[in-house]
Amino acid sequence: MRFTEDTLSRVRDENPIEEVIADFLDIKKSGKNYKALCPFHAEKTPSLFVSPQRGIYHCFGCGKTGNVITFLIEYKGMTFPEAVRFLAERAGIEIKGEEEKNVDILKVLEYASQLYQDTLLKKPQGKPGLAYFERRGIKNETIIAFKLGYAPTSQRYILEIARKKGMKKELLEKAGLVVEGRDKFIKRIMFPVFNTAGKVVGFGSRVIDERQPKYMNSPDTDVYKKSNTLYGLHQTKGDIRKEKLAILVEGNLDLLSLWQAGVKNVIASLGTSLTDGQASLLSRYAKNVVVFYDSDDAGLKATRRAIDILLKNSLGVRVALSPSGYDPDSLVREKGIDYKNFLRTTVDFLEFVVNVKKTDNPEDRVVLINEVRDMLSLLKDPIRKEVWTDEASKRFGISKSLLVGRSTNTKRKSTFRADYIDAQHRVEAKLLGFALKDKSVWNLVKKAKGVIQTPTIKEIFNEETTDSEEIMGKIEPDLRKIVGDVLFSEREKEEELEETQHLLKKLRSWKLKNDLKSMREIMKQESSQERLKKLIIEYEKMQREAREIN
Ligand code: GTP
Ligand code: MN
Repeated sequence: MRFTEDTLSRVRDENPIEEVIADFLDIKKSGKNYKALCPFHAEKTPSLFVSPQRGIYHCFGCGKTGNVITFLIEYKGMTFPEAVRFLAERAGIEIKGEEEKNVDILKVLEYASQLYQDTLLKKPQGKPGLAYFERRGIKNETIIAFKLGYAPTSQRYILEIARKKGMKKELLEKAGLVVEGRDKFIKRIMFPVFNTAGKVVGFGSRVIDERQPKYMNSPDTDVYKKSNTLYGLHQTKGDIRKEKLAILVEGNLDLLSLWQAGVKNVIASLGTSLTDGQASLLSRYAKNVVVFYDSDDAGLKATRRAIDILLKNSLGVRVALSPSGYDPDSLVREKGIDYKNFLRTTVDFLEFVVNVKKTDNPEDRVVLINEVRDMLSLLKDPIRKEVWTDEASKRFGISKSLLVGRSTNTKRKSTFRADYIDAQHRVEAKLLGFALKDKSVWNLVKKAKGVIQTPTIKEIFNEETTDSEEIMGKIEPDLRKIVGDVLFSEREKEEELEETQHLLKKLRSWKLKNDLKSMREIMKQESSQERLKKLIIEYEKMQREAREIN
């Protein structure tokens, strides 16, 4: 889906950021800006700054930065199109054009969920589905609340019924309901997945017999991104907010069993392993999570991964372990669950690793403590980090200073990489910030744009617009933070100009270094003496230039 730039700029212009934020938060005027308690991290004194002039917000505490659209995405958990639609509606702007296609997909999905449920509850073909739910102890009220359904045995069930209603095959395919000319979901119980706006965006499903695969989900589509969606959240978000806690399970049926046993603040991770997007979505509803997965080996591994993702996204994490042989669903069904009691049996993430790892000899303890150190390195909030480092130091009898920083002897690096932005990107984002504050700096950087490597930033300097609100919508969140820091910092113009020049010099010198390196490669390959001579002259010239810069 693509909105036109025209639509986007109208939506931004006609929704002043301070008004939209004031719809959700208490904001107070402070000089040119407004200030509010930042909703993206816990704090007692306001560090979220809102600049009406620039159309952006920035938090000096947690670094969240963006425009009116990203605010809704981050604060309300909306998708980009949802945020744009919301703002268009708020300002009475009519959006036409391409994104209308999604309206059709959503209609088809809505229709499908209704059809699957009617089939389950009212049609003879639905009997096997109903029998399966009964066998799994799923009650009628749960079927209704989660709009569960059944896709019967026919290969062209939804295909034919929907086509008779005038829905095109292509649209059914785009919605992920039809593949290669037949239904995707056959002889399966159906779990519609809702987005936070309450629209059906996809389905999970389970066979009612022994066929494989046991579980099958809709593919990602224009309206459905599994990595940013949680099963059940639409139904349970109110309870999650109320309890200030979410119970995270793996399976759809785990969720339904807990829910009907009275544990309503529960969500499931859609069969995939938990993603950053899901954790960050969840963090908008509660700051604490209990991970409640299977207690078999796969479950423990998944728990370990989920802990990292949750910690990284600034959530408090505890773990519940079912006795071996049980998963949350079977445990609840056989033994029932008492919520208060259940919470008392949960352990914090440090205790979880201790329980799972061997600790009986010094070498095992080395591995364990290094793992703990890696976990602590994921904590972003300085106070939370301090508290848990202190705690770990006491529990393991290891001095605090040894628990700071990442361990060097464990090999799980790739999951952390995203946290560290390249120096190059950082410098370029800073330059963009200075440029947005001052037209003459803008021109200076634009002239030198050949040294810029970050594609999104490069593109910005290739274009005409210098509107910070629009530009914030175009760059990655990590870079936005840096730009926001610069934009909201009050410094002397002189000082900023000096730093700009310093940063440009840095970029020039990095570029030269790179060029020299590629030049050496070219020289290595060159067979003609004559051409090589020319290259050497060129190379020496570049070397001199590099020396002059430094
Ligand atoms: P039930 O058998 O219905 O009780 O499901 P379960 O949740 O207990 O499933 P299981 O322990 O076998 O697997 C754990 C999770 O892995 C499930 O909840 C699913 O999310 C996922 N899963 C299991 N089997 C499949 C499969 O065949 N395909 C996919 N995509 N996911 C699966
Ligand atoms: Mn199960």
